[in-house]
Amino acid sequence: MVSNSDKILVAGATGGVGQLVVAKLLAKDLSVRALSRTKSKAESMFDRRVEIIEGDIRHANTLARVTNGVSYIICCTGTTAFPSLRWDFANLFQPANSPAAVDAEGVKNLVAAAPQDLKRFVFVSSCGVLRKDEFPYNILNAFGVLDAKLKGEEAIASAGLPYTIIRPARLIDGPYTSYDLNTLLRAKTDGQKAVKIASGDRFNGETSRIDVANACVEALFNDRTINRDFSIINSGDREHPTQWSELFAIL
Ligand SMILES: NC(=O)c1ccc[n+]([C@@H]2O[C@H](COP(=O)([O-])OP(=O)(O)OC[C@H]3O[C@@H](n4cnc5c(N)ncnc54)[C@H](OP(=O)(O)O)[C@@H]3O)[C@@H](O)[C@H]2O)c1
Repeated sequence: MVSNSDKILVAGATGGVGQLVVAKLLAKDLSVRALSRTKSKAESMFDRRVEIIEGDIRHANTLARVTNGVSYIICCTGTTAFPSLRWDFANLFQPANSPAAVDAEGVKNLVAAAPQDLKRFVFVSSCGVLRKDEFPYNILNAFGVLDAKLKGEEAIASAGLPYTIIRPARLIDGPYTSYDLNTLLRAKTDGQKAVKIASGDRFNGETSRIDVANACVEALFNDRTINRDFSIINSGDREHPTQWSELFAIL
């Protein structure tokens, strides 16, 4: 079980889900190392309450120092499903930060750099990775984002490390990119729909970034989630508070 002597690496810490993961880990007094491509961005976001390490998961030979000494990795990295400036089109025909570069190769690099005694690798993937021929995932996958996420998943599942793969549907709530850490710590889904999870790749719909972040953190406290993949959406009336151990019991 995770404790405050464990260091938890959050990759994609400056992203919509990643920010909330960091906030929830801090709310539980856990020790966080935030990986960001831009140190100053992470520093302004997290009030210097976490260790910040600059790095890029595409650069395999730089990642040993990023993962050195961590007990857990929560990977929330990603780029847009459709071509955008975030793909980095310096070379028009081979964008440098495409899904193939980040979600497949980058994730593979991070897994390869994980310590041998890692206690868990939690990965934020996507609904649809196993249903790429079905609507709407055939559209979403037009530029290969689901192919890339699946390659990332396969690298994790075959690495021999304890893992948890979380597949949200279309993300809602946030990203809270202009908010400060205190706002993030208070982010709530009160009044929103209940959390539903199911093994495998099952749902269509919407998932709150807040609940994805909660699932990433709560999974560290629940052994039922070890070596499991599950889908997560919001639907139906919400109970307060969400009973994560009951939800995870079906896995
Ligand atoms: N949007 C949806 O509806 C949807 C649905 C299902 C699943 N998902 C997945 O859910 C995850 C979280 O979504 P989100 O909205 O939180 O994503 P986001 O806000 O776009 O955050 C992505 C994060 O990845 C980081 N990143 C990008 N390229 C990187 C690289 N080469 N090396 C290191 N870090 C890198 C970004 O950092 P920088 O600040 O350096 O750019 C950012 O922190 C993503 O994996 C996404 O694919 C999204």
